[in-house]
Amino acid sequence: MPTAGLEDHLAEIRREGEAALAAAVDLRALEEARVRFLGRKGRIKELLKGLGSLTPEERPKAGAEINRLHDEFEANLEKRRAELEQLELARRLCEERVDITLPGRDSDVGSLHPTSLIIDEIASLFSRMGYDIHDDREIENDYYNFEALNFPADHPARDMQDTFFLESGLLLRSHTSNGQIHYMENHKPPLAVIVPGRVYRRDSDPTHLPMFHQVEGLMVGKGISMANLKWTLDTMMKTLFGPTAAVRLRPSFFPFTEPSAEVDMWFEPTPGKGRWLEMGGAGMVHPNVLLACRIDPEEWTGFAFGMGVERMAMVKYGVPDIRMLYENDIRFLRQFRGLSRIP
Ligand code: PHE
Repeated sequence: MPTAGLEDHLAEIRREGEAALAAAVDLRALEEARVRFLGRKGRIKELLKGLGSLTPEERPKAGAEINRLHDEFEANLEKRRAELEQLELARRLCEERVDITLPGRDSDVGSLHPTSLIIDEIASLFSRMGYDIHDDREIENDYYNFEALNFPADHPARDMQDTFFLESGLLLRSHTSNGQIHYMENHKPPLAVIVPGRVYRRDSDPTHLPMFHQVEGLMVGKGISMANLKWTLDTMMKTLFGPTAAVRLRPSFFPFTEPSAEVDMWFEPTPGKGRWLEMGGAGMVHPNVLLACRIDPEEWTGFAFGMGVERMAMVKYGVPDIRMLYENDIRFLRQFRGLSRIP
């Protein structure tokens, strides 16, 4: 390497190095430039290797010049690196920016459960008729679930309802009729109330579940009769199932009503093709029940009914197996979207 040409040669490499750094538009390109000039086989390293061919007199000056070029290039490289890192950061800030003006993503709105749809419709109808809507306890004691409702102790009528007893001696209410007692303890007649809610029985097959819903109805007033009961049930069924629905009462037995009746509904989904379906129980409030609530049965009479909500949902929506109501299959539940008629 002739010293005469060295300066020109260094100047050329300096220019090329500066051009390479300027041309590096990202960190990868910069790294390539670094290898090209400072790498083991890079242009500046090659220069240093060439020192061996110089005379001892020439060597120190040439070495110093080359080192200066080396340090200069390295400094420029770091400067360029800092610049590119800034650019990279600015680019990411821009690209990864959250645009808060974008419209939001809709959350997946579910639908009311068929059980809720039925309860809502019943609650809406009865509140329009002036009934109170009362929510009552599901963990109950023997008095409210049985005794005050005129179930004598150890009477076989208690077996009608296969009750879940808790270790504490309390129980899971087997019907919403407990609400009758609580309500009459706290309200003086005339009164009218419905009590929708969960009830529990030791039952499980295609038509029974260990937990299901009932709607209790109770009206106490002067001269309330079976006719009022029949009209009320009829109105409820027509509201829920259409004008062809009708109610038939069949003699039955409940300790808390006298007389008692099984409530059948005429259901005619297609004209000419109807059938009677059992929907619940009803009757005139037994005098002992009124007495337990300090209501004088000589002065007041009342009717009560209890309807199975899942049963109504199955009939209304054509659900063949009660268990489908509680499997939480989203494809099943989606079918009830938009069905609520209550504003
Ligand atoms: N509690 C009764 C049952 O669960 C239904 C009923 C309620 C009957 C009110 C008469 C009056 O079977």
